[in-house]
Amino acid sequence: MAEEFSHLPVMAREVVELFRPVPGGMFVDCTVGGGGHAAVLLDARPEVHVLGLDRDADAVEAARSRLARFGDRARVVHGGFERLGEIVERHGEGEQVMGILMDLGVSSAQLDRPERGFSFRFDAPLDMRMDAKQSLTATEVVNGYEESQLALVISQYGEERFARRIARAIVAARPVRSTRQLAEIVRDAIPAATRRRGPHPARRTFQAIRMEVNRELPNLADGLDESVHVIGPRGRVLVLAYHSLEDRMVKETFGRWAGADADRQVPAKMPVPPPKLRPLARLLTRKPLRPSADEVEANPRAESARLRAVERLSNLPDIVA
Ligand SMILES: C[S@@+](CC[C@H](N)C(=O)[O-])C[C@H]1O[C@@H](n2cnc3c(N)ncnc32)[C@H](O)[C@@H]1O
Repeated sequence: MAEEFSHLPVMAREVVELFRPVPGGMFVDCTVGGGGHAAVLLDARPEVHVLGLDRDADAVEAARSRLARFGDRARVVHGGFERLGEIVERHGEGEQVMGILMDLGVSSAQLDRPERGFSFRFDAPLDMRMDAKQSLTATEVVNGYEESQLALVISQYGEERFARRIARAIVAARPVRSTRQLAEIVRDAIPAATRRRGPHPARRTFQAIRMEVNRELPNLADGLDESVHVIGPRGRVLVLAYHSLEDRMVKETFGRWAGADADRQVPAKMPVPPPKLRPLARLLTRKPLRPSADEVEANPRAESARLRAVERLSNLPDIVA
């Protein structure tokens, strides 16, 4: 299993460089996947150790095997970053977290394994769960959601302009049982002229359903909230996003942490002027970093990556005296 898990870490050089000024200590790789970023970081920084987590049990197994050579400098546990605080409390041995990395989305290993049902390139049951223990699968979303709900998911998460036509075609074809059947329904629902351009016509719909099944955007919101509490002073939080909605959420969240915006913790209708708040963090990337042309050529899956980073300023009370 572990040998089959292949995923090239995206923008690994930039990740190491952004972490370089951070004092050593415990780093949390929130999406350890095959352990690619964790291994690069552990090789580059002998004074760092990593707690890796992943919702996918296959990834946990793969990362454990890949990181075994680092001995007790690497630990990998099964869990979601939306519960980061709880996981660090349980497995962090009371140590301050100095680095947090989130490399969002799906891994190549998940996409390339037909039976996981993530890809329109293979025929498999409609699953798409990152965590096999959760009950919601793509089968329920595709066959159980109302047409309007399905159209909303496909339009928002897939940024698909033909979402309503696709949702209508899916509902008409129910029950939809396999990835191939779904890919064909989507392809046939899209105007022929559009089909001939760009990537596979079902790509956006598959992405949308996957994001819905795995609650990727709500989990990201929770994970970011958790990370600002977990990270220590001078520690850094880095996020690699591959979807514009995710990147927007990261940008806005980091912007909020970095600005002394009063409404961050104060109810909007407070009768007295809110106190001035100290920023929680300093932005390290005003614009997201993008992969080099060489990296994209070597690893086309890096193409849409956007890397943003912040540094936590202090754990002091946030109100300026
Ligand atoms: C792009 S891959 C990470 C690859 C990894 N950085 C590497 O170099 O091998 C994303 C991983 O994040 C995991 N994942 C997605 N959402 C998660 C969440 N909320 N909590 C923990 N892991 C998550 C997925 O299961 C997947 O293995």
